[in-house]
Amino acid sequence: MEPEVRAILERLGPVETSPTEAALSEDELARRVGHVEAIVPMGAHPVTERIMAAAPRLRVVAVAAVGHNLIDVASATRRGILVTNTPGVLTETTADMAWALMLAVARRVSEGDRFVRAGRWKGVYWSLMMGADVYGATLGVMGAGRIGKAVIRRAQGFGMRVLYSSRRPDAEAERLGATYRAKADLLGESDFVVLAVPLTAETRHLVGAAELALMKPTAFLVNVARGPVVDEAALVEALRRGVIAGAGLDVFEDEPAIHPGLLALENVALTPHVGSASRATRLRMATTAAENCIAALQGHRPPNLVNPEAWRER
Ligand code: NAP
Ligand code: GLV
Repeated sequence: MEPEVRAILERLGPVETSPTEAALSEDELARRVGHVEAIVPMGAHPVTERIMAAAPRLRVVAVAAVGHNLIDVASATRRGILVTNTPGVLTETTADMAWALMLAVARRVSEGDRFVRAGRWKGVYWSLMMGADVYGATLGVMGAGRIGKAVIRRAQGFGMRVLYSSRRPDAEAERLGATYRAKADLLGESDFVVLAVPLTAETRHLVGAAELALMKPTAFLVNVARGPVVDEAALVEALRRGVIAGAGLDVFEDEPAIHPGLLALENVALTPHVGSASRATRLRMATTAAENCIAALQGHRPPNLVNPEAWRER
């Protein structure tokens, strides 16, 4: 935790940080939370029903991320524990990462880097590493929320035709020049499909074998949402068989494990769930989480409340 963020939290009382950035086991976390009033998960730290049961004084879980799928929000709500997140402050940084992956996989950037480092480059050959154009292609964004729309805005500079799908049409996305399409039509028409939905029961395996089969064999899939939004085994199979041309992935089904099939493929660009990891944005996320936490502990309604049902005027 950044010292300036720790200082914000210390205004209200002592702060304990976990000994490692990796997630503690459920047993160890349960042992450590018996006396705490707030938990600030910074990274992939599940806060389960068992953790909440072990923390009878817990009043707020202030997640330093927008995605809160690792928190059992239903249990928190039942217990009157507030859950907060950090929407907005990471939008542009994560959209940049979606674009980094689109460009990397279309123009074979990480493959080229591996090729050069391996000493395999023997000359400037006409046919070497031909890729696909991003400029002028059709972009399909699934989930035209904050990040999805930031991805769409960037597409103007690349002269792209832009489609989007969501559960309902979005006036702001339309104003940015994107056209609504049903999921199947978006998959069939797009050269790049970018996933920017939250992970929910509805979006788990939103893209599986059937959806991949609808995509063009020349198309690329980019996932900056959550790993389980894509059926990773089906994706590996589709990439192997040339059902689609490639994938850019920042998130994986069973992080930090990666399907071995993905590691063996050249036509994928992989990053370790670092979509929001610019120094400035990480500081904004941590600060926002701390401010949410302080508000909740002071009895104010926190600005980014995920479970308003748990809020009671105090
Ligand atoms: P957001 O503003 O809430 O946008 C989510 C979008 O998904 C909304 O347009 C929503 O539209 C749509 N959506 C929700 N359920 C859907 C469904 N079943 N089918 C189709 N569309 C659906 O959230 P955000 O701030 O853009 O963040 C999106 C997600 O990105 C986060 O939840 C997080 O998991 C992920 N993320 C990843 C990283 C990273 O490091 N890779 C960083 C930040 C965020 P409707 O509700 O109108 O349908
Ligand atoms: C990061 O993955 C986030 O959800 O903020």
